[in-house]
Amino acid sequence: MEASPATIRLCETTGLGSRSCADHHSPHPQHYSQTGHQGKIWHDEVTNVTVELLIEKLKPENEKRVEPASQGEPMGPFKIRAEKLNAWFGQNHVLKDISIGFRENEVTAIIGPSGCGKSTLIRCLNRMHELVPGARTSGSVFLDGAEIYSKHVDAVQVRRTVGMVFQKPNPFPTMSVYDNVAAGLKLNGMRNQRKLDEAVLNSLKKAALWDEVKDDLDKSGVSLSGGQQQRLCIARALAVEPKVILMDEPCSALDPIATAKIEELIASLKEQYTVVIVTHNMQQAARVSDRTAFLYLGQVIEYGETTHLFENPAQELTERYVTGKFG
Ligand SMILES: Nc1ncnc2c1ncn2[C@@H]1O[C@H](COP(=O)(O)OP(=O)(O)O)[C@@H](O)[C@H]1O
Ligand SMILES: [Mg+2]
Repeated sequence: MEASPATIRLCETTGLGSRSCADHHSPHPQHYSQTGHQGKIWHDEVTNVTVELLIEKLKPENEKRVEPASQGEPMGPFKIRAEKLNAWFGQNHVLKDISIGFRENEVTAIIGPSGCGKSTLIRCLNRMHELVPGARTSGSVFLDGAEIYSKHVDAVQVRRTVGMVFQKPNPFPTMSVYDNVAAGLKLNGMRNQRKLDEAVLNSLKKAALWDEVKDDLDKSGVSLSGGQQQRLCIARALAVEPKVILMDEPCSALDPIATAKIEELIASLKEQYTVVIVTHNMQQAARVSDRTAFLYLGQVIEYGETTHLFENPAQELTERYVTGKFG
């Protein structure tokens, strides 16, 4: 099945993968589990096979090729780590030899002026960068010690394991609240209704949305408020059991009350996940994160504990940025 450009764009921005997403734009996607037409997608043998292949191939031996990290942080118990990562859009070299690790059960904030490469960096952590025509990377990203750019690894599965939440909430427009959360599981082949119900409930609870939507699961996802839609997108990412959650300015389209709820949620998510959040709001970085990385012109200028980076930065450039002298 050929996906329309609009379909591909939607799928890219959810991280659920473009290969099986074509039917999110079919006339009645909320009925997909009952229709033969859409059943073809959910029964996609290729998807299942690739998922199994990934489990087989994501083995730590690739780690042997790594040289020590070189930008401030010692080698440590990183859940996900970039090593000499470079990224380009065509001729534009936007990330330059970045080596940085993110710890489990912590929130790491990425700050820096507009255009410095924050979004590109996190999009390289789940192989979304390569979805842009002409975009490429070099270097490595290790998840639990296994190279996600290995040719044996399925990028779609990487995007489930390393989930992404975007600036603008983007629920699947034609789907109910329930189906938005269940979509990724159905793509993975889950058809047991009881298990699906359980996963939807758990994901909505973890995303601090259950109490607000439990009587409206059949309502359209886009009928929710902006803040609720963003938590729905977080629930959708959580449903496929990620290990890492990337958030690209997740509050920039939200009002202060909705923002406070997401920040509270981020604090609870770190108990179970590795969270990386891009933010242009330095107060937010200071409130939610354990560590902060300051990026400038595609390089990590400084990376360390958030309080240290804000109160006693080692680099003059960091000091100038966090005190609002540029950016
Ligand atoms: N889709 C794209 N196509 C071409 N260039 C892009 C694209 N997205 C970003 N860039 C360029 O890459 C650089 C880094 O952008 P980005 O990672 O979005 O920065 P930030 O998130 O820090 O604002 C900028 O020069 C930007 O213009
Ligand atoms: Mg950005």
